[in-house]
Amino acid sequence: MSASVLLVTGGAGFIGTNFVRAAVARGERVVVVDRLNYAAQEGNLAGLGAQVRLVARDLAAPGDDLVRLLVETRPRTIVHTAAETHVDRSIHDPEAFVASNLLGTFRLLEAARAYLAGLGEEERRRFRFLHVSTDEVYGARAPEDPPNREGDPYEPTSPYAATKAGSDHLARAWHKTYGLPVLVTNCTNNYGPYQHPEKFLPLMIYQALRGRPLPVYGDGRQVRDWLYVDDHVRALFRVLEGGTPGGTYHVSAGLGPTNLEVLELLCAILDRLRPRPEGSYRALVRHVADRPAHDRRYALESTRLQHELGWRPEESLAGGLEKTVRWYLSHEEWWCRATGEDFHRWLAAHYDAELVR
Ligand code: TYD
Repeated sequence: MSASVLLVTGGAGFIGTNFVRAAVARGERVVVVDRLNYAAQEGNLAGLGAQVRLVARDLAAPGDDLVRLLVETRPRTIVHTAAETHVDRSIHDPEAFVASNLLGTFRLLEAARAYLAGLGEEERRRFRFLHVSTDEVYGARAPEDPPNREGDPYEPTSPYAATKAGSDHLARAWHKTYGLPVLVTNCTNNYGPYQHPEKFLPLMIYQALRGRPLPVYGDGRQVRDWLYVDDHVRALFRVLEGGTPGGTYHVSAGLGPTNLEVLELLCAILDRLRPRPEGSYRALVRHVADRPAHDRRYALESTRLQHELGWRPEESLAGGLEKTVRWYLSHEEWWCRATGEDFHRWLAAHYDAELVR
């Protein structure tokens, strides 16, 4: 493989899969490094052919093979999307998050540093390490607070957010200390095809299609700034093409619906596309016990990305939700693979039996 290869960690997970599919459509060749745990599926990359090579590897595991892989494949870019991402799982099992998000990022940064040291001047100048992160590193915003801007202090709440915050700091430190050309993006809640059904929107679709309750934590008035995954992927390409090494870029559509409002939209779409004989899906909404330390609101300002790099979100929430529902309705096979033993164990451990029976 030549120097035009992209290496994508977590490339068989949700955001990674969408990024890899877009990269292939742009004619790129991609090396995916993914540990293929419960949230990833090899089948997500099916049909992409010889443009994609999949290496099954846990980034947190020690070993020189990671540097050897970089030297052998000579990527001009590393896009680091691999992470444990489900807040509720991080509350049950924080150690998995420390391992993947902190140790995994550390080992990848070290491997990139060793690889870069062996590159010629021109290749070194072109190389980029894109660290993909989240708005959750900032912690909750009060209703009257302005959206977070790049450079605001980090105040993570959950073990998930704390480990992502730590990984952002590692990435920036490797830029400052070792000159690694790191770019950091923080994005708001994503939704779209290939998202694991433990997450809010696909879980609600999964439950609705089975006529089961839709579990809303607490009062359901928590606010998230939802972004359709394709808009996120386009932002990542813009940052790779034009971002300044050492820079941080927020990715957001600037929306602020409550969870109940999102669910209302979702139920209306399902009512239209897959009507239930018993009446609207809204009747399935159930308020359940809240998540501990549940952040009330996230909000990001993305003017830097918009003004400096010309990115704009293209998908409306209603349009993106409809595309998402249509994708899930036409990918039964994918659902079956994603909702195996591990998924049911998770539902049984986390939700009341009445909700998931
Ligand atoms: P989630 O997809 O877990 O993302 P995050 O917590 O990282 O923003 O959840 C999105 C919102 O939906 C969040 O406010 C928690 C809420 N939620 C529920 O109300 N019920 C659920 O079963 C889940 C998984 C999430």
